[in-house]
Amino acid sequence: MPRKLPLRSTARRRLTPNNLMFTDQLNADAAAVEAELAARFDALRKGAAPRLAAAMSYAAMAGGKRLRAALVLGASRLAAGGDCGGAINVAAAFECLHAYSLIHDDLPAMDDAETRRGKPSCHLEFDEATAILAGDALQTMAFELLASPDTHDDGAVRAGLVMDLATASGVAGMAGGQMLDLEAETRRFDLDETRAMQALKTGALIKASAVAGGRVGGGGDDLLAALANYADRIGLAFQIADDLLDRTSDAAAMGKPTGRDDEAGKASFVDHLGIDAAQKEAERLIDEANAMLTTTAGSSAPHLDYMLEISSFIIRRDH
Ligand code: IPE
Ligand code: IPE
Ligand code: MG
Ligand code: MG
Ligand code: MG
Repeated sequence: MPRKLPLRSTARRRLTPNNLMFTDQLNADAAAVEAELAARFDALRKGAAPRLAAAMSYAAMAGGKRLRAALVLGASRLAAGGDCGGAINVAAAFECLHAYSLIHDDLPAMDDAETRRGKPSCHLEFDEATAILAGDALQTMAFELLASPDTHDDGAVRAGLVMDLATASGVAGMAGGQMLDLEAETRRFDLDETRAMQALKTGALIKASAVAGGRVGGGGDDLLAALANYADRIGLAFQIADDLLDRTSDAAAMGKPTGRDDEAGKASFVDHLGIDAAQKEAERLIDEANAMLTTTAGSSAPHLDYMLEISSFIIRRDH
């Protein structure tokens, strides 16, 4: 299991400005996005295709760390200086897109994983066709949420949010990265190719979560650029941590199969650098990310601490 970080930069920052401990805020953000999603799925279950709605809800409501939601909500507060109404729709949208990516990632044609978030994968609980459609419908639901007038008054901001998510999830983002991940099973990727693949498959959506949160919170170009730089680094660190946990943790703790990446010939930092150096690289990326965001936002910026804690959590997590 990855070593716990000494929390140099964040040890002094245990409290968020509203005096909640970091984990309390993380849990509050997760609960808020889950309540938003639950209400939407309840309504969809009364609609035209209840089995499809049930499969969408099964995959999206199954738990999860809600990291992308936390990044959206945290970045929106950093930009707005406080809570910002439409941000919850943006957080829900990113979690829907993420849930879709997990459903498809687990399919037999991809990673063929039998569990996810501690339960049977969507295609085993339902069936493959339903799982594919649930992924498709979660993806379009994400864009519906971003384009919805109650997400932001300004249509240009909504269009910006749609662009953030579209570019992060398509051929130059998650889907492209997943394609490369599969290609890496057939030929050896060098470290640069591995980094580029991971930046797409996982990093792009994490980066877009932070940028879209800043955007819905009214952040200016400088803050959005700083959030992008910060999240570029934490996105890569996140996938390094995921690959480390695949090697060092177990299925019970992770809620998904472990030990498969090596078998499948997946490209990873762990494969290239070994466990210790991969862990150090993740720590270096987190330090760099936090320093960059602090420089732009200002070290006393309200709500900065939460963002700094999220990045540390990414590599301290145990699942
Ligand atoms: C898992 O993501 C898939 C990757 C991008 C590596 P998470 O570890 O964020 O999954 P949940 O949402 O917490 O289940
Ligand atoms: C998948 O990476 C990333 C996406 C779903 C886009 P992994 O295949 O490593 O994710 P896990 O380990 O199954 O969660
Ligand atoms: Mg995969
Ligand atoms: Mg997988
Ligand atoms: Mg993995």
